[in-house]
Amino acid sequence: MNIVVLISGNGSNFQAIIDAVETGTINATITAVVSNRSDAFGLQRAAKHNIPQIILDHTGYPDREQFDLAMQNAIDQCDPDLVVLAGFMRILTDQFVQHYQGRLINIHPSLLPKFKGLNTHQRAIEAGEKQHGCSVHYVSAELDSGAVIGQARVTIEHDDDAASLAARVQTAEHRLYPTCIKLICEGKIKLSPNGVVQGTHILPEQGLDLTEE
Ligand code: GRF
Repeated sequence: MNIVVLISGNGSNFQAIIDAVETGTINATITAVVSNRSDAFGLQRAAKHNIPQIILDHTGYPDREQFDLAMQNAIDQCDPDLVVLAGFMRILTDQFVQHYQGRLINIHPSLLPKFKGLNTHQRAIEAGEKQHGCSVHYVSAELDSGAVIGQARVTIEHDDDAASLAARVQTAEHRLYPTCIKLICEGKIKLSPNGVVQGTHILPEQGLDLTEE
């Protein structure tokens, strides 16, 4: 399996994926990391692990369509089986999403379908939720709405603020994302027209419960 990872910033999820590949947990090669920012810290992680870097600055393109097309061309040169969004902070065109349908995944810091979009930790606290967490999902045209592969739940403590909760959710992310990628690379999980399939079984809306608290 060839994996291409897309980042915009810190890349701690990218690091978790690198580690899982290097220890053999994920049987795949990270053929490249793509960043839309040349100062993304994740690029330093890539350099440390000899992962080829593709930097495409979105500000150098006249519109989203042309930027996404340039990314698509660069990614396709890597012959990816799986394209992994790991903190890639750009909305993608329908054309790009269509092109990678069934092999484009994202991690989102909430228990989808709750709290799509930004500031999920603060919003979960304000809503009085008892549980929060993260979801890995296939990407579809509508933002944070694709079929969910798996979720990890985190309990919200009475003294949590957005920062403390975010830290615990990130720890959960670093286990959840490699686990989901491993299942995909082993051919155990696929996207079908009816949703995410594990073997012959269609997963429920919330995907697999991969909580490890
Ligand atoms: C993660 O919290 C992820 O859920 C969201 O973006 C963040 C990326 O963090 N999509 P990092 O760059 O992997 O540290």
